[in-house]
Amino acid sequence: MTIGIIGAGQLGRMLALAGYPLGLDFLFLDKDSATPAGQLSPTLTGSFTDPSLLNELARRCAVVTFDWENVPAEALHQLAPQVRIAPPPAALATAQDRLSEKQLFKQLRIPTNAHAAVETLQELQQATQTIGLPGVLKTRRLGYDGKGQAVIRSAADIAGAWETLGSQQLIYEAFVPFDYEVSIIGVRSTRGEFATYPLNRNLHRDGVLRVTTAPWKAPALEAAARKHVRRVMEHFDYHGVLAIEFFVRRGKLIANEMAPRVHNSGHWTIEGAVTSQFENHLRAILGLPLGPTTAIGHSAMLNLLGDMPPRAALLAEKGLHLHDYGKSPRPGRKLGHVTVIESTAHKRDLRAASLLRRIDRRTIGRSKAAD
Ligand SMILES: Nc1ncnc2c1ncn2[C@@H]1O[C@H](COP(=O)(O)OP(=O)(O)O)[C@@H](O)[C@H]1O
Ligand SMILES: [Mg+2]
Repeated sequence: MTIGIIGAGQLGRMLALAGYPLGLDFLFLDKDSATPAGQLSPTLTGSFTDPSLLNELARRCAVVTFDWENVPAEALHQLAPQVRIAPPPAALATAQDRLSEKQLFKQLRIPTNAHAAVETLQELQQATQTIGLPGVLKTRRLGYDGKGQAVIRSAADIAGAWETLGSQQLIYEAFVPFDYEVSIIGVRSTRGEFATYPLNRNLHRDGVLRVTTAPWKAPALEAAARKHVRRVMEHFDYHGVLAIEFFVRRGKLIANEMAPRVHNSGHWTIEGAVTSQFENHLRAILGLPLGPTTAIGHSAMLNLLGDMPPRAALLAEKGLHLHDYGKSPRPGRKLGHVTVIESTAHKRDLRAASLLRRIDRRTIGRSKAAD
């Protein structure tokens, strides 16, 4: 059985890596020919809206899913009459627009930060007054890894932020002086089975995920996050994996955004949970029984950004799991990740801090004295 995946990035690659042992095959669609997933699996290369490519994808696949959020709605429109699509296009459409995402959170009574749609400089000035400063101006569409965002700390920043982002639909939202950030990953199958992974604690740097530690033991937050993700999934009659990112402030969750797909904060589940988010996404969209989402030990996942530390140095770290996405280096680009698992949260946190420090300073693999 062949699964179609639109977008052949690292998420698609990890979906394929999870699916091959189950006897599944994959066919990707991407505009580029050199992609992380294309190194593993056959890929149709060309425009995402090319009718002949979409027809071929539909013809050869039992179900079509996606590994990124910016799949053109037009592509899914063309596919929908021909092949089952999971997760539902409506969830993707909502997640593609930060404004509709926030409106959904409000509609489902999921706490989120104050926000307003902005299309003119005047509306921006108005929004900074009603919502207050500081705030964050974001593009409604196509932003990722902190791109398409400008923090407005004082009235003096308004003109500059408008200058940078002003030519598109925007959202202005209250800056949240969060204590930390978490995410929850839910999975819901075509058979209606629902499960969540243990809560992730996420450290971002310059808008990009740097480290995830999981399980993050905060039972009240986890129960609330689980309720929220379930509500979103039931709203869409969702099939597959969905992640919601939250700010935590004074012990309360404030929803930031959602991702209708497997998520970077769930990469630790490959080795750190009984069943990975990737395998469970496939099980969910195929109506197979979900696997247990229970954690095995205490995991830390660190993204490898910009350049790869020497492979031998990483692999010399006891028990470290390396994932190299096969991408060419570029400043800030997600090239891979590593996961380590420890027997206690304390050991895990010490290990993550040491690894992060040495990766940042590019001293990994050198003698301890260099640390
Ligand atoms: N309103 C906000 N208040 C405080 N920090 C924010 C806010 N919005 C974004 N950030 C920071 O920037 C990161 C990336 O922003 P996010 O909205 O998740 O966009 P994306 O991940 O799509 O680039 C967040 O994880 C958070 O660390
Ligand atoms: Mg985010």
